[in-house]
Amino acid sequence: MAETRSWRWVLVPVTVGALVSLTAGLLARHQPRSTGYFQLFFSDPVAGGNVFTSVGCGSCHTLAAANAHGQIGPNLDRLKPPYDLACVQVERGGGSMPSFKGQLTPAQIRDVSAYVATYAGP
Ligand code: HEC
Repeated sequence: MAETRSWRWVLVPVTVGALVSLTAGLLARHQPRSTGYFQLFFSDPVAGGNVFTSVGCGSCHTLAAANAHGQIGPNLDRLKPPYDLACVQVERGGGSMPSFKGQLTPAQIRDVSAYVATYAGP
């Protein structure tokens, strides 16, 4: 019996290891992608302009297209963030920017990110 039990203990690190790699795999799937197809087909940059204004991104960010002159966050015209990066930042927040996950729907997050990615720049 003691032998059986000792074999069971081997299963603990194996199971933990499997769970860790599964979690890592799932997280990796959420890393930014560089393709623009998702942005193209699943977001509406024009609707995103309204989100940008109504939710107050412009109180912290400068973006000429939205007539926004905020100084707290980086100047988006200069930063020109790609769509995927903007999605991640708006959803999660970070570096003294709040997360908008509870405030905006996933579609609104995609729209506002597409808006920034499309209209940032001189
Ligand atoms: C309270 C102020 C504030 C508001 C409101 C705000 N931001 Fe930010 N944002 C910041 C700050 C500060 C940073 C810099 C974060 C850092 O240093 O990592 C930032 C960074 C970013 C970045 C760049 C991320 C990077 O890694 O370079 C993007 C894109 C962005 N914000 C978009 C938005 C959008 C879109 C909205 C509206 C939904 C918004 N922000 C609302 C303060 C704000």
